[in-house]
Amino acid sequence: MVGVGMIFDETYRPFFEQVRRDGLYDRRFGLCEVELAAVASRTGQRAEAYRKSAGDRIGDFANYSGPEAVSQLLDQEVDFVCVATPDHRHFQSAMAALQAGKHVLIEKPSVLTLHQLDQLTQASEQHQKLCKVVYHKLLDPDHKKLRTLVVDGVLQHVNHGYCSLLEPKSIATGQFSEWITGRNPATYVAVHYIKLIDFTFGGKLQSVSCSGQRGLVGPANGSTWDSTQLRLIYRYADGRSAAFDIHTSWVTPDNFPGYVEQEVQFRFDNGVWNSHGRKRGVECTVEGLTPMQMKTTLNNHYNGTFQEPFGGRTQRGYGIEVLERFTREVAYVQLCQNPSSETDRL
Ligand SMILES: NC(=O)c1ccc[n+]([C@@H]2O[C@H](COP(=O)([O-])OP(=O)(O)OC[C@H]3O[C@@H](n4cnc5c(N)ncnc54)[C@H](O)[C@@H]3O)[C@@H](O)[C@H]2O)c1
Repeated sequence: MVGVGMIFDETYRPFFEQVRRDGLYDRRFGLCEVELAAVASRTGQRAEAYRKSAGDRIGDFANYSGPEAVSQLLDQEVDFVCVATPDHRHFQSAMAALQAGKHVLIEKPSVLTLHQLDQLTQASEQHQKLCKVVYHKLLDPDHKKLRTLVVDGVLQHVNHGYCSLLEPKSIATGQFSEWITGRNPATYVAVHYIKLIDFTFGGKLQSVSCSGQRGLVGPANGSTWDSTQLRLIYRYADGRSAAFDIHTSWVTPDNFPGYVEQEVQFRFDNGVWNSHGRKRGVECTVEGLTPMQMKTTLNNHYNGTFQEPFGGRTQRGYGIEVLERFTREVAYVQLCQNPSSETDRL
């Protein structure tokens, strides 16, 4: 694991604990034991705190920190490497891991230039290793249903759409402040919606344009953006087109009830799809707890913790499932006993 921050805690940690407990089974390769072998981060402090608090939920893992952490991690006998560092630091670790002959899973956005993406693609082909990106929003049950209705022809021809994700100011100026200089909320989160639109509706991207505002997280004439508005135009095989606006920001007031506010609207020839983070599920208010210690609006799909009706508690959701899916793919490539070659399985 390269990077032990917020996303590690939200999805990778529960995944590694779950898979350590249950193993990974697939009848094509049998039972595969998966252990978190090593972690690399800047200071190693969060990993150390995690080790202390986790008890036997996780096995012993090597904890590397500092500038040599990734190469030390790659010297270990690990089968795959997950990269969850800040966005502009994905490429170096992912490339080093591929060159060391490891399968790689990278948090979105994979990298920040197409040239780097080409290099990673080439390295994964050359070293015959999987290299994949986590776009967990494709596994959102709501988005899966949207795509199902499109594939089944229930919703016909998308004409235009609007997607929005707004992060609170306290995250941008607190947790993100270490890496936010020179960055913008579009490469950070609009990528989720570009992927959703591309994957769900297909077509060919015809044009991209973008506007933005500055002055809150950085100076008004600086290189750090508060908010961005992307416009994508796609053309389809029947000669028709569609336009999509994606608005993202990380300067929403901290007391805004949406917390991380998400909205998706698509308008079709024969229908409209609207989903809204604050309206899709539950709004819950607890005196003295919401909205700061506990969120008023719950996302029960991503990595929720539940008391199961059949007893016991689980932490489950699509953020965790996508990690299991990738790990299964690595195991299928490496461990499968059937007579096909590793190249065929890749
Ligand atoms: N899939 C999602 O929905 C989702 C959600 C949030 C974040 N992310 C992505 O996950 C990644 C991590 O986000 P986060 O919020 O966990 O970040 P974070 O700032 O909380 O944690 C980053 C971690 O990377 C480590 N790190 C930084 N530079 C490093 C380096 N050069 N070598 C090794 N370790 C290094 C830090 O020590 C820290 O442990 C980002 O790319 C982000 O876009 C994805």
